[in-house]
Amino acid sequence: MSAEIDPVKVMKQEVGKAAAALVKSGTIVGLGTGSTTAYAIEYLGKRIQSGELTDIKGIPTSFQAEVLAKQYGIPLTTLDAVDHIDIAIDGADEVDPQKNLIKGGGAAHTREKIVDALAEQFVVVVDGNKLVDRLGSTFLLPVEVIPMAIAPVMRAIEKLGGKPELRMGIRKAGPVITDQGNMVIDVKFDSIDNPAELEKTLNNIPGVLENGLFVGVADVILVGEVKDGQPSVREI
Ligand code: A5P
Repeated sequence: MSAEIDPVKVMKQEVGKAAAALVKSGTIVGLGTGSTTAYAIEYLGKRIQSGELTDIKGIPTSFQAEVLAKQYGIPLTTLDAVDHIDIAIDGADEVDPQKNLIKGGGAAHTREKIVDALAEQFVVVVDGNKLVDRLGSTFLLPVEVIPMAIAPVMRAIEKLGGKPELRMGIRKAGPVITDQGNMVIDVKFDSIDNPAELEKTLNNIPGVLENGLFVGVADVILVGEVKDGQPSVREI
């Protein structure tokens, strides 16, 4: 019996491979989080192991990225040890026509924003379903909150017109705990008219560490698609 080919998986592999192909020897690379970026990390590791790429240093955006980088043999460094990042590769949950993003589906958006914003080139890897006309139309906005401030932050978000819900764990009782030991509130806004303003307003609430709006950070969006069973990658 032949194994079924999963077109979505193939498409994620192709877009991950396309992003990994952009990395040059002698560079510092931000390693994003999520199922699509995982393939970019895998192919980056393969290029290093084959000797095609040399002198690469990775900066992981999460525990997941760190584990994958070690698995695929990518040498790691920290922000204390370097003064720049050449390129970052990361996924997204929504992308608007201005290349603004919602991130944080994996609760890693705080570290992701630090690394992705520092990169001279930030490459986003997504599938076509992530493209939206307006942010917030398909995905709730993640907000990382210090645990003692959950109740007042939820009230403040309601005053802004958002409907907040505490993200709960799957196969873990209780809330999701981030790599920093905080919690995540997912917020439904009827309409995000001004992402830049909302990003600042949310981060200004005492107790909020970071929200998942990435405004003016992305440089290149690589979009994977499957047409007639064939995966393809295009750049926007
Ligand atoms: C992690 O917190 C997120 O920002 C991910 O980068 C985002 O959810 C995309 O993940 P997938 O590639 O798994 O869809």
